[in-house]
Amino acid sequence: MARSAQTLPIFSGAPVDTRRRPLRDVRLSVTDRCNFRCGYCMPAEVFGPDFAFLPRAELLTFEELALVAGELVALGARTLRITGGEPLVRRDLERLVVLLRELDANEALGGEPLDIALTTNGSLLAGLAAPLRAAGLNRITVSLDALDPATFARMSGSALPLQRVLEGIGAAVEAGFRGIKLNAVIRRGVNDGEIPSLVAYARAEGHTLRLIEYMDVGTTNGWRLDEVLPANEILARIHALHPVEPIAPSRPGEVANRYRYVDGRGEIGLIASVSAPFCGDCTRARVSADGRLYTCLFAAEGIDVKRHLRPVADPRALRDALRDRWTSRDDRYSELRDAATANRLPKVEMFRVGG
Ligand code: GTP
Ligand code: 5AD
Ligand code: SF4
Ligand code: SF4
Repeated sequence: MARSAQTLPIFSGAPVDTRRRPLRDVRLSVTDRCNFRCGYCMPAEVFGPDFAFLPRAELLTFEELALVAGELVALGARTLRITGGEPLVRRDLERLVVLLRELDANEALGGEPLDIALTTNGSLLAGLAAPLRAAGLNRITVSLDALDPATFARMSGSALPLQRVLEGIGAAVEAGFRGIKLNAVIRRGVNDGEIPSLVAYARAEGHTLRLIEYMDVGTTNGWRLDEVLPANEILARIHALHPVEPIAPSRPGEVANRYRYVDGRGEIGLIASVSAPFCGDCTRARVSADGRLYTCLFAAEGIDVKRHLRPVADPRALRDALRDRWTSRDDRYSELRDAATANRLPKVEMFRVGG
């Protein structure tokens, strides 16, 4: 079914873009660094030991990030998702969560608390889940592409053991997080054989597995359409193991199509951004770690937000710039994707804007 922004609730005064889409979700990238080298995101051949990541002084401080997030909340954002790179490599991240939690007082929210979420590769989560929870984080999504250690190593491009990630997920449960989501990017011929074990693990642990079509993000992953396992094929494989039936989205603009197991043992999500694009109700904006606002995951350019923060912050100019960018937004890359030219287009790297 085609999705349309016409069905999205729009708050009075909140801006919409040229396709009538409101701003609802903001992804805040806190670092461009990562301790993994997933081939679909940051291939080790390209991002070697000498690669120049952002210098520390270029990163937005937590206070600056919270200021930008607050202005985006005033423009309609209700979910703030902390991402990277790998967000947990940034020191004292729980301090950012505390600052974002303070935005609950923003009058645009009318007393309704913000939904604050984190997407992580899980490898550093074991020691951090409890402090993040105490700081006010609501939800955690962990990327997990395989349960076979050799396939995990091949997908993550890292020597960090799978066990660390599993311990991180365990620590999140221990810390009180519920409704944990596990994101698996599926590459045909690489980890599609892992689908049954990922399904079994997620069902046994009570987590929601989300299977993601491999996307042509950035310019370095050498994406090929024949490596994409379409969501309907993934679904058929799962249905053959454990029958599923579709369920309604949990909120407008959700990226995953949800299904529940007929036997009542949980749900899965399929993120079909290649085979069934969802630009029609895309309500997401992304802030890169160096302070640029991107209105599409596949955009080539973002607007410079930092110039309204340094040397002194000018919140009014910042809000005007953010509003202008949102109201002039026309992005719908996935609907226009041409597999033949996808690798030649200039695009931001996914690790800069947090997936
Ligand atoms: P929820 O609030 O839990 O629904 O989070 P989410 O699904 O927005 O966040 P998550 O980080 O788990 O995103 C899942 C994956 O979906 C991302 O990593 C991307 O692969 C893909 N994705 C998310 N947003 C977009 C988008 O705007 N466009 C495209 N093409 N893919 C997206
Ligand atoms: N295609 C699909 N998903 C991707 N991610 C990173 N790169 C890609 C890609 N090329 C996902 C990660 C993580 C999230 C932040 O983005 O697996 O779950
Ligand atoms: Fe790191 Fe996530 Fe990119 Fe993998 S997908 S390299 S874990 S930022
Ligand atoms: Fe949104 Fe761009 Fe993804 Fe379409 S391709 S859903 S516009 S981020």
